[in-house]
Amino acid sequence: PDSLRAAARGSGVRIGTAVDMSALSSDAAYRAIVASDFDSVTAENVMKWEAIEPERGRYDWAAADRLVEFARANGQVVRGHTLVWHNQNPSWLTESAFTPAELRQILRDHIKTQVRHFKGKVYQWDVVNEVFNEDGTLRDTIWLRALGPGYIADAFRWAHEADPKAKLYLNDYNNEGVNAKSDAYYALTKQLRSQGVPIHGYGMQGHLGVQYGFPGTVFDNVRRFDALGVQTAFTEVDVRMILPVDATKEQAQAYGFGTLLQACLLARHCVSYTVWGFTDRYSWVPGVFDGQGSATPYTEDLQRKPAYQALRNTFLLG
Ligand code: G3I
Repeated sequence: PDSLRAAARGSGVRIGTAVDMSALSSDAAYRAIVASDFDSVTAENVMKWEAIEPERGRYDWAAADRLVEFARANGQVVRGHTLVWHNQNPSWLTESAFTPAELRQILRDHIKTQVRHFKGKVYQWDVVNEVFNEDGTLRDTIWLRALGPGYIADAFRWAHEADPKAKLYLNDYNNEGVNAKSDAYYALTKQLRSQGVPIHGYGMQGHLGVQYGFPGTVFDNVRRFDALGVQTAFTEVDVRMILPVDATKEQAQAYGFGTLLQACLLARHCVSYTVWGFTDRYSWVPGVFDGQGSATPYTEDLQRKPAYQALRNTFLLG
């Protein structure tokens, strides 16, 4: 009754978490919280291309299917992450091994095969992930080099053909407030919509840090996407800090989690808020940012932090 999931009920915003599939199978306490606190799940890694097609033409759906089945059993929806990215691609997928025409065919087959596999089971897809640099120019990736900027519209069209009901998202980090990167997303979304490209949502990952302060223009940003008629979602929220933890940093962290949720609740079409892991026991942060951590709403021993209470209260008090 005091869960996040219960607090979120009726708010119009789904509360989600990224799921670490090895933790889900080995850790019963972890599994219980995924089921009780969340009504949406995202695969932290197992729906990425390297996991799905480790060798060309050999697909491995097992882990992803387990997550879909877990979600079904617990009355949860699944956010799909992610179809087109420059990271965690299979090692066979290199620019030198294929012509541009082949790469286009490979990308098309990948999107169609994966979206079709999960048709009716994944309600939102991060179709295109992290395609802009901080200054708003397109990121230099295998896809941009081989296919040119049109690959973005193509990816959305192919995904839509494979599952016309799934909501299709752009997704990135450092795009929560109004800045050069989110301006680029705004312009791209507007352009794609005017061309009739099936794009339905704007995802803001929300990887924040106490030591950086928090963007003050999140609601302004969400509101301009509202006005374009697309959905918005916070897709990977965590708020890291420089260790050691102290009470001030924990309060700041609670504010960071809460303020993104508040922007979502204030918006007309913000439909989901997902944390990128709910416990420090499995967070990606310490492995990537030296000396930082404690980025999630639960401690390593599964105690609720002020951030947890901030999320819950923000749902309850609106
Ligand atoms: O699969 C191998 C495994 O075989 C091996 O034993 C193990 C040893 O380190 O590594 C495993 O791969 C790791 C993979 O996670 C799966 O666990 C990689 O080393 C590790 O780098 C990878 O990290 C993931 C990261 O994306 C890679 O890009 C994180 O778990 C995941 O949280 C993170 O998520 C991204 C989102 O997809 C996009 N937005 C940013 C976010 C944080 O970086």
